[in-house]
Amino acid sequence: MFHKSVYTSRRAQLKKELGSGIALFLGNVDAAFNYGANTYSFRQDSNFLYYFGLDHAGFSGVVDVDNDTDYLFGNDVDMDDIIWMGPQPLVSELAAEVGISKTAPYGDLTSFVSKAVKSGQKVHFLPPYRGETIIELAALLNLPVQEVKAHASTDLIKAVVKQREIKDEHEIAEIEKAMFTAYMMHTTSMKMAQPGMVEQDIAGTIEGIAIALGGPVSFPVILSVDGQTLHNHNHHNILKEGRMMVTDAGAETAMHYASDITRTVPVGGKFNTRQAEIYQIVLDANMEVIKASKPGVLYRDMHFLASRVIIDGLKQVGLMKGDTDAALEAGAHTLFLPHGLGHMMGLDVHDMEGLGEDFVGYNESIKRSDQFGTAYLRMAKALKTGHVVTDEPGIYFIPALIDQFKAEGKFKDFVNYEKLETYKDFGGIRIEDDILITDHGCTVLGKPIPKTISEVEKTMAEPREWIKREGFI
Ligand code: GLY
Repeated sequence: MFHKSVYTSRRAQLKKELGSGIALFLGNVDAAFNYGANTYSFRQDSNFLYYFGLDHAGFSGVVDVDNDTDYLFGNDVDMDDIIWMGPQPLVSELAAEVGISKTAPYGDLTSFVSKAVKSGQKVHFLPPYRGETIIELAALLNLPVQEVKAHASTDLIKAVVKQREIKDEHEIAEIEKAMFTAYMMHTTSMKMAQPGMVEQDIAGTIEGIAIALGGPVSFPVILSVDGQTLHNHNHHNILKEGRMMVTDAGAETAMHYASDITRTVPVGGKFNTRQAEIYQIVLDANMEVIKASKPGVLYRDMHFLASRVIIDGLKQVGLMKGDTDAALEAGAHTLFLPHGLGHMMGLDVHDMEGLGEDFVGYNESIKRSDQFGTAYLRMAKALKTGHVVTDEPGIYFIPALIDQFKAEGKFKDFVNYEKLETYKDFGGIRIEDDILITDHGCTVLGKPIPKTISEVEKTMAEPREWIKREGFI
């Protein structure tokens, strides 16, 4: 946990932004895995963590803007809890750790909220994403369950996004820890990408690394030689030379700050000519974005910069043709890059996505495109110092999409479908870094993870002893 002054000042800032009313932050409860007493690993709500810091199930917090007071609602443990969980701090002790002096048993939250409603205070809450939270909000606010989401407070969403999108030095230090875990996961994945291995061997090993270093993973590991499927969670393939293996994986720290990295490597450790050509285009796109990202630049423009690099590169290898700007305008690149360049990252791997993507990556002046592919862009608005975003261009050869666009005659002025037929067995390549926007540019977070063709080949050629030398075992 950070020092209590961090949480106190975050809540004070929220009060300034919100102006009036009360803000209700329901923490998460344990979620059953297959029966009540066998639960998933507990994951606290990120907004509760941001303002109240406590990583325990069964707490809720209130920021009373009108009366400049913060409250923590929760129950002290009883003897049964102590027998099964060991001694636990009192609620008042936990509250003191995050700068709160007013606590009450959890059951008092109902009367607290109804009193606030009766006295005319506006009750702000964020969009809930778990069934238990929706049911509780429905009961607290006397709303039909199906109407709860619609009553979420836009004012609170905007105030929270404004705060959480700018990462301070404490948060960056946490993200750096998550980056170190990602470094260990990805260098291990590279070294294990040898013919005969099963994807599951590697996916399981790197998930274990995340857990061993404080984890869990920040999202289910994506690892496949069928990298043309963007979020491939099937890990059954046996690795064979000639295929590229995508690993898109990251970890949370014990405080739940995330990393999210993608690397793509040739099985066996040596790029063939066709792989090297496509890889270099994706790498160039990733690097051009790093060179150009700075405060004031629209991330949507960075998406188009990467797309332009991809079009030019694919023209060089004979898979695209025609005028680059016209191809971009028509959206021809989306056959190869059907997703957005990146998203914000922080306490959530897609930071604050539960509050609504359009509140996080867009604003009044930057609206979401309805073009195929480009519509998936999660972060489009202007970059600011303190933003942490992913830079993750890719090139994918998706047989079903190629067949469909070809049959429709789509982009025939820009795509060489005849040559493309010979790439249907290629798979996909994605390269992803997490970047911090600084006053005059950006920095790539974390210990550099091999990325150039020669770095990847060198890493894959080193013996497993290398992992020992790096301090992992
Ligand atoms: N790295 C997985 C994702 O961004 O969806």
